[in-house]
Amino acid sequence: MKNIKLAMPSLKEARMRKNVNIPTIRYALDEKYKNLGLGKTYYIFTYGCQGNEADSEVMCGILEQVGFQKSTDPMNSDLVILNTCAIRENAEQRIWGVLGQLKGRKRENPEMLVGIAGCMPQEENATQKILESYSFIDLVIGTHNKNHLPQLIAEAYASKAKVVEVISSEGDILEDAPKIRESKHKAWVNIMYGCDEFCTYCIVPYTRGRERSRAKEDILAEVKELVKAGYVEITLLGQNVNAYGKDLEGEYTFGDLLYDLDKTGIKRIRYTTSHPRDLDEKTMLAMRDCKSVMPQLHLPVQSGDNEILKRMNRKYTYEEYVTKVERLRELVPDIALTTDIIVGFPNETRAQFENTLNLVKNVNFEGAFTFIYSKREGTPAASMPDTISEAEKHERLTELNQYINAGYLKGHQRFLHQIVEVLVDGPSKNGEDMLCGYTPHLKLTHFKSQDTSLVGKLVKVKITEAKTWFMIGELCE
Ligand code: 5AD
Ligand code: SF4
Repeated sequence: MKNIKLAMPSLKEARMRKNVNIPTIRYALDEKYKNLGLGKTYYIFTYGCQGNEADSEVMCGILEQVGFQKSTDPMNSDLVILNTCAIRENAEQRIWGVLGQLKGRKRENPEMLVGIAGCMPQEENATQKILESYSFIDLVIGTHNKNHLPQLIAEAYASKAKVVEVISSEGDILEDAPKIRESKHKAWVNIMYGCDEFCTYCIVPYTRGRERSRAKEDILAEVKELVKAGYVEITLLGQNVNAYGKDLEGEYTFGDLLYDLDKTGIKRIRYTTSHPRDLDEKTMLAMRDCKSVMPQLHLPVQSGDNEILKRMNRKYTYEEYVTKVERLRELVPDIALTTDIIVGFPNETRAQFENTLNLVKNVNFEGAFTFIYSKREGTPAASMPDTISEAEKHERLTELNQYINAGYLKGHQRFLHQIVEVLVDGPSKNGEDMLCGYTPHLKLTHFKSQDTSLVGKLVKVKITEAKTWFMIGELCE
């Protein structure tokens, strides 16, 4: 297959933070594509973070606007797009595996169009591999050009070539793009894009561009529309939401945004993800003052050892992290705190790992995503010497998870016999005739009921059992 390379990724370009104005692009459909997908079906595989889930909702919107219809069967769709994640090696392995399956399907049905999007194509080595070894892929696009989807698909159909457009720039802000949201009661709301933190292990600043905030007017307008449409809960999204507004004119911060969003009438507000250094007093006060801001926070710590934190370029110490947590608990005493932790950062010693265990014991997290460090080509940590064996890293992860799992259980036990409010998501996988949803503290709760009209509603549930991964309760009449 011939290649049409409109733009190729460059880690060097992606690393740069040029002092340029970030353009806001107002999406408008080019009329010549309006029937592009008529009579055709599509399927999007979504991997990785909530940011990717939100991006997929936009891609669905763009595709359906030009006539494509959503399919439930990827292997029998006319267009399949993988919206990919590059955060760790194992995320990528899964994606190469799915591509392997699609290769066979494409041989049987050469008319099928296969596209790869999201973070993986932003990596030079991944796009190189796609060009060299995945000739059946028709479309390669990155994180910065969802808005070009119709023209790129049209180009792929017309040329029968592999069309590659991966842009390594600061990025822009896309407004007014159509969106097909997965849920009718919970919505993702992007408030900013990109990341400028450059933690030494992380590929995200290279794949997602510079930190750039949406105008508060656009965010507030979106949330007001969601309230009108009956949405109950929003989750504000960004790689580092606490840096919201730093790139805009004026003094408007994330805390200010929370106070303003609280007035829109939305019942529940959550946000993810936070950087401990940027979590400020105003945000913590907003968590105390705003009824709609849920008493729950995901605050990634990554490590409990000051030397490792320094080598990770996290820009805070163990002590500073704990001080912020203490202040937060003064203001919101029952807050449920969760975190992210990496074990096996290059040359992490046993003693350094034990400092992480100590932090976990001291802070009382009620959950955590825990990871073994994964080397990402192009990041500073990738060239740090590492003599710790894989077996040792796995042992550390298992040991850490024992404490983390105990934290999950304790976090559920504290609600035993209490009445909590649950936003009902739908049928539970935990048993017939059961529904499930989440409490304000983001605790998954199952309860007996066949009344699916409760989906999307807030109901009262009395907790009768606390397990490690969920709670069980009885619906209060
Ligand atoms: N290896 C392991 N975990 C990573 N994360 C980010 N980059 C890496 C990596 N190279 C984790 C961090 C981050 C979460 C989203 O993923 O804990 O908070
Ligand atoms: Fe990656 Fe650090 Fe940015 Fe989070 S804050 S996306 S871990 S660089």
